[in-house]
Amino acid sequence: MTANLGAMDLLLATRNQHKTREFAQLLGPNFTLRDLTSEHDLPEIQETGRTFEENAVIKAIAISKIFPDQIVIADDSGLEVKSLGGAPGIFSARYAEENASDRRNVEKLLCELQGAPERSARFRCVIALVKNGELITTIAGEIAGKITKSPRGENGFGYDPIFIPEGFEETFAELPSDTKNAISHRGKAVAELVRYFNTARRSARK
Ligand code: IMP
Repeated sequence: MTANLGAMDLLLATRNQHKTREFAQLLGPNFTLRDLTSEHDLPEIQETGRTFEENAVIKAIAISKIFPDQIVIADDSGLEVKSLGGAPGIFSARYAEENASDRRNVEKLLCELQGAPERSARFRCVIALVKNGELITTIAGEIAGKITKSPRGENGFGYDPIFIPEGFEETFAELPSDTKNAISHRGKAVAELVRYFNTARRSARK
């Protein structure tokens, strides 16, 4: 689908400031990014989808209907652990309980994996791009790795302290943010999103 995307002001449908920071670093100076942290009267959006893609689209469309003149992007992401049949998956943010802290989610995951020799996992991210309440496109990214036996490192958020990306010895929380961004699920998806915008801009100029 083609769209006239105009100026690159983007509204990111999240209140997760860690996500916003990563998006801002990944998008770079050609984009002005705003998130929902200063919007206090928004309805709660129920993530009722069965996949990252469905939930990203639900979030982006719901926010786009409230801000129809904005280009809205929403990221739905999470960790899939092979020996847990893909859990926590779309429930990553609320694995231990509703509104769980990162620490509680990490504790629960390590508990579930106690003594497990098979610790492979992957982070997945799907970004939905929406304008005027209509889906323009979705873009996915993923990174494979393994789960440590205990948390290590202070950077990042979520499950970063227990995830070692393939080809590294350090967890995402031990790696500098630039390194994480260069290889992460979100980094890959945002790079693809930027390519999408650049192509759309070029064809709009023709
Ligand atoms: P969402 O806001 O519903 O997409 O939930 C995403 C959840 O997945 C986060 O709260 C984290 O627990 C986890 N997650 C997603 N991306 C990352 C990441 O880059 N590092 C660590 N945890 C992540």
